[in-house]
Amino acid sequence: MSELESHQAATLTEKGTPLTTTTRKTPTPGPTELLIEVHALALNPVDHHQRDTGFFIQEYPAIIGSDVAGVIISSGPSTRAALRPGTRVTALASSFFNGGADYGAFQRRVLVSEETVSVLPDGVSFVEGAVFPLAAFTSWNGWVWAGLLPTATAGLAGVGEGVFVWGASSSIGALAVQEAKVMGFVVYATASPQHHDYIRGLGADRVFDYKDTDVLDQIVRAAGADGVSIRIGYHATGNQQLAADVLDALRGEREGEKSKLAIAPILDLEWKVPDGVEAAFVYPPQDRAELKERNRAIFVDWLEGKLASKQVVASPHIKVIKGGLESVNGALDELKAGVSCLKIVVELTKAFVAELIS
Ligand SMILES: NC(=O)c1ccc[n+]([C@@H]2O[C@H](COP(=O)([O-])OP(=O)(O)OC[C@H]3O[C@@H](n4cnc5c(N)ncnc54)[C@H](OP(=O)(O)O)[C@@H]3O)[C@@H](O)[C@H]2O)c1
Repeated sequence: MSELESHQAATLTEKGTPLTTTTRKTPTPGPTELLIEVHALALNPVDHHQRDTGFFIQEYPAIIGSDVAGVIISSGPSTRAALRPGTRVTALASSFFNGGADYGAFQRRVLVSEETVSVLPDGVSFVEGAVFPLAAFTSWNGWVWAGLLPTATAGLAGVGEGVFVWGASSSIGALAVQEAKVMGFVVYATASPQHHDYIRGLGADRVFDYKDTDVLDQIVRAAGADGVSIRIGYHATGNQQLAADVLDALRGEREGEKSKLAIAPILDLEWKVPDGVEAAFVYPPQDRAELKERNRAIFVDWLEGKLASKQVVASPHIKVIKGGLESVNGALDELKAGVSCLKIVVELTKAFVAELIS
């Protein structure tokens, strides 16, 4: 196969084995798809989980991963006009939704659906762009469940209305803080103390140390002093019971609709949801048309504009690994060992081949 017909991939040949670099046939995009030359890919906890357990993998060899940034090589005939060959983009590239190895992020060229693509403005690098897709998808799916919409972010919050983000130094939490700020909420957040200034810089009004034994009282007292009403929480990671108890305590004597806690990971199966709280695992729409509509709202109507206006920035801190596809497996081990306010991004070093654009 020529260079135009094939590309390299970090491939999972079997459950529980390291990723290895293989050569794959380069696919052609369907009517509403794009073929992207990947310049940077970001890692997420679900990636090492999939590698090690085979979670959600239908067939091998598999290509896992969700987050890419790169350049459009070719676009299907029914894609929107802005998505032409040569355009710099970030995209949710996940075999979770489309099925098949052509759609997984950890390869040099990947197919994506056009509604999961945001054009990158000049000031945002590929490395920065790669951190957004899964974090935006997951955070927005939680906010939407709680009644907030990416397409109507301005003025959603009333005066003195707040939300909290638990685990705000995680990838999802850091973006959720920015989203909440853009929506106009007073934002309370939790993180380890060394990250408090950084989280405030992303838009949080108050940041608490989730390890403090009296963190619940601190948050309730602060809300009272600030005159802030908090009815929505986003649990990005950490202690879901404590997050739910805080949300319940923040209700005080308030009657009426339950407060809402969106939970990205269910980490505690034994937990008890307080009476005043409705909680749900963050899940994308299961209906295909609804999923497309949700993605369009997130990536086309929201993220693209917010990147251009600089209302959201790449978060949390980024560690760049420049070793190319060969380094993805080791980078996953590093993520699995635990990160603190850090997104790991692998930069693919091979220069973009301009002749590939068609
Ligand atoms: N539902 C979905 O569709 C979906 C999609 C994607 C991811 N997820 C899940 O969402 C979770 C977050 O993913 P991520 O990539 O954002 O995680 P991440 O960036 O790897 O999270 C690392 C952060 O976790 C924080 N943390 C650890 N223990 C904590 C605790 N007890 N309380 C508060 N924060 C704590 C650390 O904070 P400090 O350093 O400040 O201590 C650290 O910064 C993962 O479990 C992931 O699998 C779910």
